[in-house]
Amino acid sequence: MTNHKTQVAIIGSGPSGLLLGQLLTLSGIDNIIIDRVSKDYILSRVRAGVLEEGTVEMLDKANIGPRIHEEGMLHGGFTYAFSGRVERVDMRSLINKNVMVYGQTEVTQDLMEAREATNAPTIYEVEDACPVDFDSDKPYVTFKKDGVAHRIDCDFIAGCDGYHGPSRQSVPSSAIKTYEKEYPFGWLGILADVPPVRHEIIYANNERGFGMCSMRSTTRSRYYIQCANDDHVDNWSDDQFWDELRRRLPQDVAEEMTTGPSFEKSIAPLRSFVAEPMRFNKLFLVGDAAHIVPPTGAKGLNLAVSDVHYLFEGLREYYQEKSTAGIDAYSQKALSRVWKAVRFSWWFTTCMHRFPTTTEFDQKIQESDLDYLSKSVAAQTAVAENYVGLPF
Ligand code: FAD
Ligand code: DHB
Repeated sequence: MTNHKTQVAIIGSGPSGLLLGQLLTLSGIDNIIIDRVSKDYILSRVRAGVLEEGTVEMLDKANIGPRIHEEGMLHGGFTYAFSGRVERVDMRSLINKNVMVYGQTEVTQDLMEAREATNAPTIYEVEDACPVDFDSDKPYVTFKKDGVAHRIDCDFIAGCDGYHGPSRQSVPSSAIKTYEKEYPFGWLGILADVPPVRHEIIYANNERGFGMCSMRSTTRSRYYIQCANDDHVDNWSDDQFWDELRRRLPQDVAEEMTTGPSFEKSIAPLRSFVAEPMRFNKLFLVGDAAHIVPPTGAKGLNLAVSDVHYLFEGLREYYQEKSTAGIDAYSQKALSRVWKAVRFSWWFTTCMHRFPTTTEFDQKIQESDLDYLSKSVAAQTAVAENYVGLPF
């Protein structure tokens, strides 16, 4: 058995674990991160692309801001299309705020580099990670690495291990309540090194299903189409994908879109999920370990960052001011923000997609929701506030 000792043991080296680790390290609080997979594997995952202003502020606080401000693309609005119409929510003029388009992969890479520069320990490719005795004053984490058993004794455990990780699963079912909604479709997404068709993101509600144009840079595009839950990437050649996307976009956008070979193609299921509470004495659930939102509106990564904000402030207060007020309030504060993003992602998903069960009545409601949005400054302001992210 190899023994380690630290103040905060972090399970998961995704954005939430890495950001929490970096903020703790910068405040002089020891932490060890472990992850099931390798660094290269984590960096190969293509996920979120839109950062809220509060997220960018948190990344600035973690000292990884410079590349984001240099390479990120500031967006003051987004376009939505429905019933042959093309409308825009202008966040900048409505509420003087923007979002930043900068990939999760880049955020993760920046955080990994920052962590390496501080020499804070990360142990990759561990097996059987398990939070233990987190209801006692002596919590610890066990895992195996290269067949050798390890144990990390700590003050607190941060479960930053995603939806499938062991942290939430180690909580007795009588102590946790979960809320879940599955959507009857997924998103087929591709990445291609072609210039984005427009500077801003376009969400299209079409009778053939949802289509979306996003990007990672001025030379790299990220496009999505709604697909059936049981669909498979092998069913979609690049040509078939481009043809289908074109059919779902406004005509001028479809005609001007540059196509090319994709270098990543995957299908993501759409789900809303929340686990309550997010604290179990010395164990905290953070990010996807506690909640999942459908990707419409790009809230997943941003919610992970706001959780980290509340937890980091609580732990900092605990170590620097000897107060438990922050960690005691963590679950309630985080969940209050989480539910609002869950609501927004559900609303945006519901009004932009075609459900297999959509009736003519449902269709009319969807169209009038989007028509109201296009005509009411109050409705646009509410959408803009949610899209750029509610305050922490
Ligand atoms: P994760 O990024 O999931 O990180 C968890 C980490 O824990 C991983 O590195 C994992 O290897 C590790 N781990 C898991 N199990 C163990 C174990 N047993 N032991 C040790 N470590 C473990 N959000 C958006 O906003 N927009 C998008 O377009 C978008 N697209 C997505 C596409 C996909 C396919 C997925 C899965 C998610 C997407 N998301 C998107 C959501 C967003 O990526 C997540 O909200 C974000 O990654 C959450 O960060 P996290 O650190 O909490 O969890
Ligand atoms: C992206 C994903 C989203 O869900 C969204 O609303 C905007 C952009 C993206 O992956 O680029």
